[in-house]
Amino acid sequence: MSHMNMVKHISIILAVLLLSLTISHPDLAVAKQNIDPNTSTAELNYRPTYHFTVPSEWMNDPQRPVYVNGHYNFYYLYNGDYSKNIIGTSYHLAQSNDLVSFQDKGDAIPKALAPDGKSIWSGSTVVDERNTAGFGKNAVVSIVTALDATKPDRPQAQFLYYSIDGGEHFKAYGQQPVLANPGKTDFRDPKVVWDPENNRWVMVLAEGNQLGFYQSKNLVHWEKTGTFSKDNLGVFECPDLFQMKADDGSIHWILGTGANGKSIGEPNTYAYWVGNFDGKTFRPINEKEQWLDQGWDWYAGVTWENYSKDNDPLTNRYAIGWMNNWDYVTNTVTWEKEGFNGTDSLVRVINLKKEGTGYHLYSAPNPNLEAYTKTEKTLPNQSVNGTKEKTRVIGTGVSYELSFNLQTKNTNHAGIRFRQSADGTRFVELGFDGKEIYLDRSSTPNPDQYLKRFERTTVLNDQWATKNDQQVHHVQLFVDKTTVEVFIDNGKYVMSDVINSELNDDLITLFSDASTVKLTNLRLSTFNQIQD
Ligand code: FRU
Repeated sequence: MSHMNMVKHISIILAVLLLSLTISHPDLAVAKQNIDPNTSTAELNYRPTYHFTVPSEWMNDPQRPVYVNGHYNFYYLYNGDYSKNIIGTSYHLAQSNDLVSFQDKGDAIPKALAPDGKSIWSGSTVVDERNTAGFGKNAVVSIVTALDATKPDRPQAQFLYYSIDGGEHFKAYGQQPVLANPGKTDFRDPKVVWDPENNRWVMVLAEGNQLGFYQSKNLVHWEKTGTFSKDNLGVFECPDLFQMKADDGSIHWILGTGANGKSIGEPNTYAYWVGNFDGKTFRPINEKEQWLDQGWDWYAGVTWENYSKDNDPLTNRYAIGWMNNWDYVTNTVTWEKEGFNGTDSLVRVINLKKEGTGYHLYSAPNPNLEAYTKTEKTLPNQSVNGTKEKTRVIGTGVSYELSFNLQTKNTNHAGIRFRQSADGTRFVELGFDGKEIYLDRSSTPNPDQYLKRFERTTVLNDQWATKNDQQVHHVQLFVDKTTVEVFIDNGKYVMSDVINSELNDDLITLFSDASTVKLTNLRLSTFNQIQD
């Protein structure tokens, strides 16, 4: 063992001993000593370390980024008047090169430009490379939902805004919608994509429990071509449509949407179907929806092309979700403590893989995050045998990535607890229980004021009955001040939750109910603060 490794090992053993002592003395004064004396003040507030957050006030839906002049323009719905209790959102811009840190550029479409002078809702932005709309080659065009002030009942309709300065400031294309409401309560969130086969634009729109498809040659005149409907998935919002090449070389269309599977025990995140889009309508290979995230808090998700050099945009795509849930949207610890309500997930890279009779999207964290690594250490293997109690502390901190392989018996119930308090009573639990994995935040203060949304369970649909009655899972756990995102088995399953853990709650322990659970290949990384 090298000198450095020996020093590392001794310090890990000391840390384990010290923290085990802390556990047996449930006293917050002692727990405070866990905080590294070098901890900066940034680590002691609720501003996430490595997640994109709104600088202040309110943010909801992310808008699909576009690549302009060598950077990504990332727009989001922003309410700068949130603390004054004034509703409405603008289309706000943040720019980024790496999709980890972002530079705030202010409102791109201010509230005042909305037809009702109050609110711009979700939509999508495109770069009009072919000058189809006549605003000039490479004009940046956004088609968004707003309330149609030309009608007495102010229904939702689609309005066009254009920019000739690279998407930093937009002008309204008149006060009339480019797609008026035909009499529907829900008629919003246009996602516009270029259809190369038919040389025209396509729009997918959320219309209650239906998604509507439209086509246009010029982004201004739209004609309906088809619909896709589903029951039991609530009111659709923020639909998505894109092509991907699967690992078997075949190319497919994917239709996604913000959906609510609450009534059937499914997530309310981003549902999707893999299938065929013929330019007019979409037909899935399998009728049953899949979910890009199995947690509580990954909503209004958008996906977009990875423009990195040498990347095949069809095999690799980015995705981001808003880490909140309309059912308890105002109840955030960040608003209470830091004056902002708006945290997005990590950007992920998604890939399509053949699975059974269909195809499944796998997710991986944005590899650009690695450049922000502050510390990285390998931890010794851990195992716990057959006790119900926490038995080992394997790390500490409030913002980190912990990755490991977990090996457990098929009949066992085991897992890890993190953001745990010194007295052991508060924690978030990631557990493996027979055929299921779950993420349970019931032992932390819960964002859900109705005290319902505690645990999300996912059925492991393969890998379960392996030889020797053992299952092995690869786990990448991203914990930040108020969030957890867990990628399991190379991102086959992902669960994202808001957590309202206290900042002192920084322990990690391992538990097992009936037999041995082993954690190997443990790596713990911390990250530099990306935003003050
Ligand atoms: C989704 C959503 C969209 C709408 C926007 C309004 O979170 O409800 O359907 O455009 O938020 O803020």
